This record gives sequence, structure tokens and C-alpha cells, in this order.
Amino acid sequence: MRLMLLGPPGAGKGTIAKKLIDKYGVPQLSTGDLLRAAVKEGTTLGLEAKKFMDAGELVPDKIVIGLIKERLAQRDCAKGFILDGFPRTLPQAQALAEITSLQAVINLDVSDEEVVARLSGRRTCPQCGAIYHVKNIPPKTPGKCDKDGADLIQRDDDKEEAIRNRLTVYRRQTVPLIDHYRAAGILQEVDGAAGVDNVTAAAVKVIENIR
Ligand code: AP5
Ligand code: MG
Ligand code: ZN
Repeated sequence: MRLMLLGPPGAGKGTIAKKLIDKYGVPQLSTGDLLRAAVKEGTTLGLEAKKFMDAGELVPDKIVIGLIKERLAQRDCAKGFILDGFPRTLPQAQALAEITSLQAVINLDVSDEEVVARLSGRRTCPQCGAIYHVKNIPPKTPGKCDKDGADLIQRDDDKEEAIRNRLTVYRRQTVPLIDHYRAAGILQEVDGAAGVDNVTAAAVKVIENIR
């Protein structure tokens, strides 16, 4: 399976990817997660990327293309992968096409209003990466991860100003990919505003048609 999840910030790309990797046993390749790991480790790349991420800007193509190339070369990607948050510019899509071909791109459609509501209530686990929402998908104990009990955190870029800029950047730089993949005949529209189970079921339907 060579699948990509496309959609605005907060569309549920990470949430749905985690459901699908459990079901299909393929890795989730999230450039956001790879970059946040580099920031946490304090690498040169991480320090460079952090400036862009905190402002809600895209990290330069060269950096993310390098990261994803390295990740795709790892053995666990041989049986397939689910890309989450890459590509998000046309040059990134071109670079990806030189390495591998996608079978389907699922476009998660969600309104701006819903994006803001989702991101302002999002909490994540710094230990295992689990994603919660204070209202929609609350942890059993407020502020604690269900799986490992770690204290949940808010992402640095989930502040109102950064959220607004991420939406602007999404429209300017990532929306062109919708037409790009539609023209390639592999775009699948999914209503991202439906509940997690419904969105997952719609994604499973797409996957069953490409396997
Ligand atoms: P990245 O980490 O990719 O962030 P993003 O695209 O802004 O998307 P999010 O992770 O915020 O949202 P999501 O769609 O994964 O939603 P989630 O499942 O968490 O990128 C961060 C930054 O890194 C970028 O701004 C950029 O700087 C850099 N970067 C990354 N990739 C790059 C690239 N390729 N090129 C250049 N720069 C790059 O869900 C959100 C919330 O909603 C959660 O609280 C969740 O519980 C809830 N929720 C999810 N689904 C549902 C549902 N169906 N119903 C109700 N609630 C739901
Ligand atoms: Mg995400
Ligand atoms: Zn956890």
C-alpha cells in the first residue's frame, strides 16, 4: 500500500494514519513527527526547522525531501507506507514521484472553523505520540495518556496566531496538490468532519480498492 493523507492542519491526518497502521501493519511517515523528533534531539536540522514550525511556515523543501528520502529507504517501508503531511508543495510531489509512485491520495476535507476547534483542543503524548482532544477524544484521566500515563502536552504551533498562518500557508502552498493528484486520477475525497470511526471506514474502503 502506497497511500498519502492530504488535508489542512487538524484535518485528522495523524489520527486516521494511526488507525490504519494498526490495521494494516505499514509505517506512518509523518514529516511533522520526524521534524519534531529532530527539534527534541536538538540537532542542527531540528534547530533550523523549529523557527519555521513555530511560525506555522513550511520548512524548506530541501530539508523535508532529504528527511523523507532517508525514511523511505528504510526496510519497513518495503511493504508499503502511509504518508502524513508529505508532500505539501508541488516540488515535494515531484521529488516523491522520482522515488516512488502513490496509489491513492485521500483528501480529508474539513472547514476552517472545525480546524481551529480541533487544534485548540488537541493534546498529544510526548512519550508515545497518541493524539487526544479535550472534548472529541478525551483521555480517560484528564491530562494523562491512556497508554502510558505520561502528562499530555499542547504543541508549540497550536497557538491561535500560528494556526491562522498554517491555514494561509496550506491554501497557498498545499491546495494546488489537490488538482495535481486529481489530474493524476488518484485523488479520493473523504469528509474529514465525520467522526473518527466514519473517516477510518471511508479510508479503509479506498485502501481495499488499491490492494
Ligand atoms: P504537521 O505535524 O504535519 O502538522 P499539520 O499538517 O498542521 O497537521 P496536524 O498534525 O496539526 O493535524 P492532523 O491533520 O495530523 O490532525 P490530528 O490527527 O492531530 O506539520 C507541522 C509543521 O511541520 C508544519 O507547519 C511545517 O512547519 C512542518 N512540516 C511538516 N511537514 C512538512 C512538509 N512536508 N514540508 C514542509 N514543512 C513541513 O487531529 C487534530 C485534532 O482533531 C486532535 O485533537 C484529534 O483528536 C482531533 N480529531 C481528529 N480527527 C477527528 C475527527 N474525525 N472528529 C473529531 N476530532 C478529530
Ligand atoms: Mg499530524
Ligand atoms: Zn502515551
